This record gives sequence, structure tokens and C-alpha cells, in this order.
Amino acid sequence: MSDALKLGFAPFAAPARIGVSGVLIVFCDDTLKFGPATTRAIAPAADLVARAAKAERFAGKSGSALELIVPGGLRVARLVVIGAGKTAGLAQKDPLKLGGLAMGKLPPAASEGMVFADLPGGALKAEQAADLALGIVLRAYAFDRYKTKRKEDEKPPGKRSMTVAVGNVAAVGKAYAAREAIAGGVLMARDLVNEPANVLYPEEFARRALALKKAGVAVEVLDVKAMKKLGMNALLGVGQGSARDSRIVVMRWNGGRKGDAPLAFIGKGVCFDTGGISIKPAAGMEDMKGDMAGAACVVGLLQTLAARKARVNAVGVVGLVENMPDGNAQRPGDIVTSMSGQTIEIINTDAEGRLVLADAIWYTAKRFKPKFMVDLATLTGAIIIALGQEYAGMFANDDALAERLTKAGEATGEKVWRMPLAPEYDKMIDSKFADVKNTGGSRWGGAITAAQFIQRFVADKTPWAHLDIAGTGFDSRQTDINKSWGSGWGVRLLDRLVKDYYEG
Ligand code: BES
Ligand code: MN
Ligand code: ZN
Repeated sequence: MSDALKLGFAPFAAPARIGVSGVLIVFCDDTLKFGPATTRAIAPAADLVARAAKAERFAGKSGSALELIVPGGLRVARLVVIGAGKTAGLAQKDPLKLGGLAMGKLPPAASEGMVFADLPGGALKAEQAADLALGIVLRAYAFDRYKTKRKEDEKPPGKRSMTVAVGNVAAVGKAYAAREAIAGGVLMARDLVNEPANVLYPEEFARRALALKKAGVAVEVLDVKAMKKLGMNALLGVGQGSARDSRIVVMRWNGGRKGDAPLAFIGKGVCFDTGGISIKPAAGMEDMKGDMAGAACVVGLLQTLAARKARVNAVGVVGLVENMPDGNAQRPGDIVTSMSGQTIEIINTDAEGRLVLADAIWYTAKRFKPKFMVDLATLTGAIIIALGQEYAGMFANDDALAERLTKAGEATGEKVWRMPLAPEYDKMIDSKFADVKNTGGSRWGGAITAAQFIQRFVADKTPWAHLDIAGTGFDSRQTDINKSWGSGWGVRLLDRLVKDYYEG
């Protein structure tokens, strides 16, 4: 868990600042040059480092590392030199990634590390050093609450600490405050995605969202009775085959001017997706515990905005259901009336996320009249076919919003790729018996017809973007800043969108 790491900042100083059993981690470029502060700190071992590099043919290639055990002259147990690659590109180096790499070099059994936020070009600026610290915290996260056994050499020595050595402790500390809020939101989202569905069902998810009250978020939970009254039969139809009741959670953070229209974020929260009566094949079905990654992101985002007291009004709405087959489950061919009044023919009960969003999005637009709506959903396998796991698919009815999301994606590395919406695709979801059907009938363009479906429930021409995060919300690959499965994808992206374009 996140609380396993104690993060601190200290001025560049001799490594005597960490204990003799500590690990000192520094960066060099591909000419084995160090930053000025690093050069001073490791001077007593400079010759050793040069000889070790030669012996190991270490050339400072990006991501490579050289490790020296009990280096003479330095009062540390281990010195790790991480290659940061070409000097020319060092200014553009992603400090988040460097932080992740550095944390990865703290051996599991070590209790104390120190990273020098220093490159050959000079000490990292406050904002960059703070990003490096965020990378450390994101990388340190592990979801291990269900591990009761561990190999001897994996035993974490209780609380581990990582100190970031910097030029100006006060400035970096200040810059880190907002990152600490982001880290809290990302790790919260990851926890939700990683939890198994026997633990995290709609009611339990709602309970966890209630914890946001502590940060000053207003949290409301709609139960089945309340949703029936509102006419949310699209959402309720998905949950009707489950022993677990459905919920909607509404979260509001009011950090902006009173009366300002809020920004709205809506998440698909299918706590488990068996496919329902149109049941999925067995292989890989366990991944469908992560079918609430969109909802997890929305909760994490609201937590972040509140924790850093963002000067903006925001609302988060998550539709929570479990898609199960049983005697009461929805059938293919069923027709339901959504909150919007539009009738929906169910062709495939596995196309359930769009049914949940249909009511959640209609409700959000009508109740809050937001400045814009962004929904996030692990919606289609088709978007993974199109974009793999690098980009999320983005669909939007508003060019300015799409542009801003694209830019925020590039700035954070949580990238989105715009996909088309068009009347020709919209026609594909016209139904013989009802106003609309819940699949396009063909697998071709499956992510697009899903987005077209959602668009039919965007009330009052509200500016809207839909992010299909089926490829990015959870990840069996591992990255420099995440070794767990749930990615927490979208929290950093949307926090950035808010910060760069909407905060007064
Ligand atoms: N939750 C799935 C989509 C998904 C697949 C998310 C893989 C993450 C990883 C969604 O509910 C679903 O089942 N979609 C169907 C839609 C189809 C029946 C029209 C799909 O993509 O096959
Ligand atoms: Mn499904
Ligand atoms: Zn699903």
C-alpha cells in the first residue's frame, strides 16, 4: 500500500545524510557525466565508479543502471548510477519516469534510499523535482493486502523511506503539495481497480467513495428505489441479474465561484462484467473485476481536486452495477425505457456499460447543467484492437474540449487519440422495435457505435467527450511508474485538464 513509503526532501549534501545501510541513487548521461551536486557527493568514490563502469561496460544508456556494493569512501551500503541517456535530450527527460526508475532500484529489503534530483545540466527545477518525487510514490505502490506469505528476501523492512535530495527544499516541497494530492487520487483509483469483485461490489464501492467527505467533498448515494423513481431503467436493467444492488454515487467539490457551472466527470462502474446472459468466455474473465476503472478514476480525481483545493466546481457521477446472469437477468430482445424517455432494445447483454452511462450521463446533464461532461469507461474490446494500450480512444462533440484533452494527454503521458462520430455510424444503432439498440450488430467500428450510443443520451447539446479506457484502465504490462495491475489512468490527465484550462 501507499503508506509503506515515507517520502522526504533534503538539501544536496554528503550521503552521510542517509544511514550506512542506505542506498544512494544518482543519474548520469551517456558520457558518464554527473550533475554538479552529484559529482561533489560521490567524489570519494569517483575512481571506483569509473572502474566499475568499465568492468560492466556501463555506458549510461537510458534506463540502464550500474550498482556498487559498499563503495569505498561513501558511507552507504550501495550506490546506484542510473543512465538517463543522451545529454542533448536530458532537458526533455520525463522526471516522473526517472523517479519511477530510481524507486525501482531500491532493493525490497532496503529500508532507506536517497535520490539526487540532479542531471549533468544541473539540479532539477522545483516542478521537475516534484514530478520525480511523484514518480517515486507511484512506483512504490503495491497492491499486496491479500498476500499472507512472502519469500525471505522480499520482506519489506517495515516502513521504507526515500529522500529526494534537491537544490531548494522549500520550493520543491511547495511544488510537491499538488503532486501529493495527485498521488493520493491515483493510488485510491488503483486500489479500487485492483480489489476483487467479491469485496468491491456497488454498495462497498459507494462506501469507499463516502470517504471523500473527509476531504470536503459532498457525497450522495442513490439506491435502487431512488433510481427507479428517476426512471433509470437502462442502468437498473444491467444490475437486475445480480444479488448485489446497484448504486449511483454523486460527488461534488465546490472550490470555484458560487453559481459557476461545474465540470462533470462520469464513470462506468461495472464492478464485475460476466457479460450477463450473453455470457463471456472463461479465459481472462477475471480481468472484468476492473470494469469499474472509469468510476475509479472519477473518484480518484475528485479526491485529488479536493485535496489540492482546486479552484473549480466539479461533479463526479459513477454508475455502479454488477452484470450477472441469473433467473432475473435481462434478456437479449428486452426493451427498457431509459431516464431520457428513449427506449432501448437490448441486443447483447454484454454491451452493458453504455446502458449504465446512458442514464448516468442524462441525469448529470439535466441536474447539473455542467460546462462540459467527460465520461470514462472500459467500454469496448474494439478500442484495444484499434489503439492497443498506449492511447485511450476519445470521442467528442466539441473540438475545443477534444483539443484540450489531447494537450493534457501529451503533457501527462496519459494520451488520448480522437476517433470519429458520424451520422452513418449513428444509423447502425437504429432498432427495429425501439428507438435505439445497444450494439451496432457488427463488430466493425465497435468502439464508434458504442460512442454513438452514448451520444444519444447527451442532453441539451452539452459539450461532451467520451474516453474509452478499455486498453488503459488496467494493464498486465508494467511501466516505470506502475508495477501493479490497476493503472489509475485518467486521474493525472483530468487533473491537468482542470488545472491548465478551468481553474480561476
Ligand atoms: N467491459 C467490456 C469491454 C472490455 C473488454 C473492457 C476488454 C476491458 C477489456 C464491455 O462491457 C464489453 O463486453 N463490450 C463488448 C461489446 C460488444 C458486446 C458489442 C465487447 O467489446 O466485446
Ligand atoms: Mn460487457
Ligand atoms: Zn463491461
